[in-house]
Amino acid sequence: VSPVLRNVGTLATCRDAGGQGEVHPVRDAALAWRDGRVAWAGPEAELPSEWADAPSLDAGGRTVVPGLVDCHTHLAFGGWRAGEFVRRIRGESYGEIARSGGGIAATVRATRAAGDDELRELCRGRLREMASLGVTTVEGKSGYGLSREEELRILRVYRDVAGAALPRLVPTFLGAHALPPDFGGDREELVAEVAGEWTPAVAEAGLARFCDAFVEEGAFTPEEGRRVLEAGAAHGLTPRLHADQLSDSGGAELAVEVGAASADHLEHVSAAGIRALADAGVVGVVLPLAGLYLGQDPAPARAMVEAGVRVAVATDFNPGTAPSAHLPLAMTLACVREGLTPAEALKGATLHAATALRLEGEVGSLEPGKSADFALVDAPDVDHWLYHHRANACLATVGRGRLLYRSPGLAGAEGWEALAAPEPGAPAAGGSP
Ligand code: NIG
Ligand code: FE
Repeated sequence: VSPVLRNVGTLATCRDAGGQGEVHPVRDAALAWRDGRVAWAGPEAELPSEWADAPSLDAGGRTVVPGLVDCHTHLAFGGWRAGEFVRRIRGESYGEIARSGGGIAATVRATRAAGDDELRELCRGRLREMASLGVTTVEGKSGYGLSREEELRILRVYRDVAGAALPRLVPTFLGAHALPPDFGGDREELVAEVAGEWTPAVAEAGLARFCDAFVEEGAFTPEEGRRVLEAGAAHGLTPRLHADQLSDSGGAELAVEVGAASADHLEHVSAAGIRALADAGVVGVVLPLAGLYLGQDPAPARAMVEAGVRVAVATDFNPGTAPSAHLPLAMTLACVREGLTPAEALKGATLHAATALRLEGEVGSLEPGKSADFALVDAPDVDHWLYHHRANACLATVGRGRLLYRSPGLAGAEGWEALAAPEPGAPAAGGSP
């Protein structure tokens, strides 16, 4: 099928030109795609005649945005930590709970106890939920295995859940997330093992695109983080970094030094850290759901944009600090708490998030040649969409030209259903998966 979406009230193309707030909206637009790629996007009145007889879908005057990119999630985990949520409300801190054996260590125990099938099903369900919110690309970190075998197992789960009917999944190896729960040994030895044994095993198996480290008091020091990330880079895994989340430990500067694609969190980033990110072109990723749940002061997203940093917005979805996969809510929070405009938040959850994943040539904007990934949202424009927070404003999500989600309330169901990916095992309906 090579259909045309017509009667788009606002098409926010999010192409690269201009600053963070320039999403290049087209009013009364149309969008055409073929073989999973955007073929044409622009004012409907200028749609080339070759599309005159193409099957058409009606956007009902609503808004179309590029498929959202959630560039920071801890997707694969067993168990939840509602008990810790209550303990924090009653006054214990995240660090205190971690020191008492909870936190990341609790999730490591629950994840190790979950079978492969269970983890795969959990991941698929979470990806379906994200797709229902307009998300078409998701980064997923390991980090709740914390042994060589368990980290490899989580990354294999990511490899196995990938499929045409789900958002694209980009795997990150986060072996340096915390000290393993049963850890009694020598930190130096552990870091040497992560760098010298786990990292090459992950790279040789081709199971990750990125590596990551949690540099923080109670987790890893900047020197330990550097060692792990440099080992990752030497094995072809591009670094990214949990930086300056609970304190300023020079995480942004470290991200720049190791050639990271992104520095993430940044609630406590210094002015020098912001300048370093801007000068090096490293994407700054803000995660407002985590800040909200931890009761932190918001990250200085506004100051980063003013300084020329490309700011991405993501969920940080995980069972501790961000137990929500709602990227549009994170975007609204980036507006309300961190001073981004809706347009800036949108570019942050599309093109700049794609850049954080080094996928900006493939996803993140609606331009000819890029993947046909988009969401139809029930709002007249981007400002209204992120202002009027709803359980779900998304009406339909298309990834690589295939229907990933359709709201029960969407009109013209038949046309949309024709975009559905064939069930696994069913004969192909033409076109490539
Ligand atoms: O991004 N900061 C480290 N990792 C996660 C939290 C993980 C957890 O608490 O389970 C984060 O906030
Ligand atoms: Fe995180």
